[in-house]
Amino acid sequence: MRHCVLVTGGAGYIGSHTLVELLSNEIEVIVVDNFCNSSKEALRRVEEITKKSIKLYPYDCCDKELLEEVFRQNTFDAVIHFAGYKAVGESVRVPLKYFRNNLISTLNLLELSEKYQVKNFIFSSSATVYGVPKTVPVSEESEIFAMSPYGQSKCMIEQMLTSFSKAHSDWNIAILRYFNPIGAHPSGKIGEEPRGIPNNLLPYITQVAIGKLPYLTVFGKDYPTEDGTCIRDYIHVCDLACGHLLALRKLYTNCGRVVYNLGTGKGYSVLEVIHAFEEASGLKIPYQIGPRREGDVPQNFASVEKAKKELNFVAKYDLHQMCEDAWRWQQKNPKGYQEE
Ligand code: NAD
Ligand code: WQD
Repeated sequence: MRHCVLVTGGAGYIGSHTLVELLSNEIEVIVVDNFCNSSKEALRRVEEITKKSIKLYPYDCCDKELLEEVFRQNTFDAVIHFAGYKAVGESVRVPLKYFRNNLISTLNLLELSEKYQVKNFIFSSSATVYGVPKTVPVSEESEIFAMSPYGQSKCMIEQMLTSFSKAHSDWNIAILRYFNPIGAHPSGKIGEEPRGIPNNLLPYITQVAIGKLPYLTVFGKDYPTEDGTCIRDYIHVCDLACGHLLALRKLYTNCGRVVYNLGTGKGYSVLEVIHAFEEASGLKIPYQIGPRREGDVPQNFASVEKAKKELNFVAKYDLHQMCEDAWRWQQKNPKGYQEE
C-alpha cells in the first residue's frame, strides 16, 4: 500500500531531512509550513535531492479553518508534527508566544485528525523534557520535568497525547524525544539555517569557522565532568530522519502510544565537539571560557535500548561525520538558503 503523510514544519531543519527520507522510501508527502523559521528554498532542494514533488500549503497550523482545507482536500494516513517554536532562551522571555504556537497547532491537528479519522501521529518531543536527569543514560521511563516554557510546552503536549490515546485505543501515537540534532544532508544542499546569532553549539562553531563570528564562548568549565564542560548526545539529523521512518512503520503495526529516545547513546563534551570539528574541517576554532549558561544541565545522553529493540533504530553517523556534514553545508551555503 502506498502511504501519504502530512508533515507540518516540513521546511524546517529536521522536517526537510525527514522529507528526503520519506520521499526516498516512496512515501508521498503533503507539507504545511508558514515559513516563520524556514525558507521555501529548502523544499525546492528536497525536490532536487529526491527528484520527487511536494504538495505545499503555506499555512499556519494555528489557523484551524485553513488547516481543515488540507484535511478536506487530501487523503493521508499519518501526521508528523514538527511545526513549533524551539528557542529555549526566547521562550523564557516570551512564554505565551511559545504556548500559543506549540499548543494550539497541536490541538488543531489532533482535533482535525479525530474528525477526519487520521489515526497515526508522530510528535517531535525533546530531551529537554528530562529536565535535570537523575541518572544517565536517561531512559524513557524517567520522570519528565521541564525547566523552560519551551520544555513545558513539550511536556504539556506529551500529556495531551497520552490522554488522547487513552480515550482512543485505536489511535497510534509516537512521541519521539530528540537529543541534540546536528549535521546536514551529505549532499550539502539542505541543513540548519539559524536566524540571527545561533543559540546552539554546532551552528555557532560553523559560523566561527566561516568567519561570521569571531570566537566561540564555552559556557562553563567547572561542571562535574571529565574536562569540566557539559556533555550532550549529538545525533546526525539524517539518523534522526531515519528514526521517523522507523517510527512510522511501527505505527502502521497498530502499536498504540509509544515513546522513544532518539539519540546515539554516547555523550560528548563541548571541548570534544570543538576538537572533532577542528579535525573534520582542518581549521582552528578560537574559543574562550565563559560563565555557565542558565538552565544548562551538566550531562544528558540517551538510553537507546528501547528504540533499538522496538524500532531497530541504531544511529549510523559518528561525531566526525556530523561535523564534516555540518561544515560542508556551511561552506556551500554561507548565506543559508538565500544564496541561489
Ligand atoms: P525548525 O524551526 O527548523 O522547524 C520548524 C518548522 O515549523 C519551520 O519550518 C517553521 O517555519 C514551521 N512552523 C513553526 N510554527 C508553525 C506554524 N504555526 N504553522 C506552520 N508552520 C510552522 O525546527 P527543527 O529544528 O526542525 O525542529 C522541529 C521540531 O523538533 C520542533 O517541534 C522542535 O521543537 C523539535 N525539536 C528540535 C530540536 C533541535 O535541536 N532542533 C530538538 C528537540 C526537538
Ligand atoms: C550544547 C552544549 C552548551 C552554545 C538545546 C535545547 C534542547 C534541544 C536541543 C530543542 C551546552 C554549550 C552552546 C555556545 C556553548 N532543542 N554551548 N557555547 O542546550 O543541550 O539543547 O538544543 O528541543 O531543548 O535546550 O544544546 O547546542 O544549545 O548546547 O558552550 O555558544 O554546548 O552550554 O553544554 P542544548 P546547545
